[in-house]
Amino acid sequence: MAAKIIDGKQVAADMRAELKAQVADLKTQGVVPGLGVILVGDDPASRSYVTAKERACEEIGLHSDDNRLPADTSQEDLLALVQKMNKDPKINGILVQLPLPKHLDEDEVLLAISPDKDVDGFHPVSVGRMVVGQKSFLSCTPHGVIQLLLRSGVKIEGANVVIVGRSNIVGKPLANMLIQKSPLGNATVTVCHTRTKDMARYTREADIVIAAAGRPNTVTADMVKDGAVVIDVGVNRVEDATKKSGFRLVGDVDFDAIKEKASFITPVPGGVGPMTITMLLFNTVESARRAAGME
Ligand code: GUN
Repeated sequence: MAAKIIDGKQVAADMRAELKAQVADLKTQGVVPGLGVILVGDDPASRSYVTAKERACEEIGLHSDDNRLPADTSQEDLLALVQKMNKDPKINGILVQLPLPKHLDEDEVLLAISPDKDVDGFHPVSVGRMVVGQKSFLSCTPHGVIQLLLRSGVKIEGANVVIVGRSNIVGKPLANMLIQKSPLGNATVTVCHTRTKDMARYTREADIVIAAAGRPNTVTADMVKDGAVVIDVGVNRVEDATKKSGFRLVGDVDFDAIKEKASFITPVPGGVGPMTITMLLFNTVESARRAAGME
């Protein structure tokens, strides 16, 4: 079977067009959703993520308050800016780009963000609400994976899902979203990780395999059954002398071999990646609606 390639760029473009229309409608009612963005330091990958987020805000008509702080910013100054944004009615969502420079306490900064503006969905209150099935902001990459599946016509309800990776940003929240009694969930979920014995035993049984391990070739063709759906969350740089940059991006799965066997597969880049920013925009629009008492 040759897999259908899930086009994340297209799904993201469709969702952004929907959000743009919603933002235009909100503006007619006097509501302008706003995102506060904080980048500390000048890590090139973080800088390009943040620039992409700011551009995406502009594209759909969101107000964005962009703050680029020097690498030696103190914990106190960063917390003060978060507190200022917590109180600012023009800001509905706060995004502190991670990772922060080593001298800063990331956990304390994430805790300082008001859960009402936690559009990244990283605050323990947001995660806890999600786990017990209460309304909360869903973190962007896992929610993006679920939207990709649903919008590609993949049935999640009742599916056997195996997630490879247990990070706080992807594996753990995604497993919890997929087991919820909700249209986004109702799956049977297994989480594999670095201490799992004989991982292939689990992945071979899966209707949907989601790789979020952060290591190339973690999932190979012999590890998936014919007709499985394979979602690749990995983004890894591997050396490539033929590229001007000296590297190329690959995911966590052996794409070329698995695409001959799976029913659906996401490419890297152009699969899950474009969905992450889209879900950030989605959460910011939802937060503005909630702040205006519309839901
Ligand atoms: N760094 C890498 N991905 C993310 C993300 O989704 N949100 C934030 N805040 N930082 C990140």
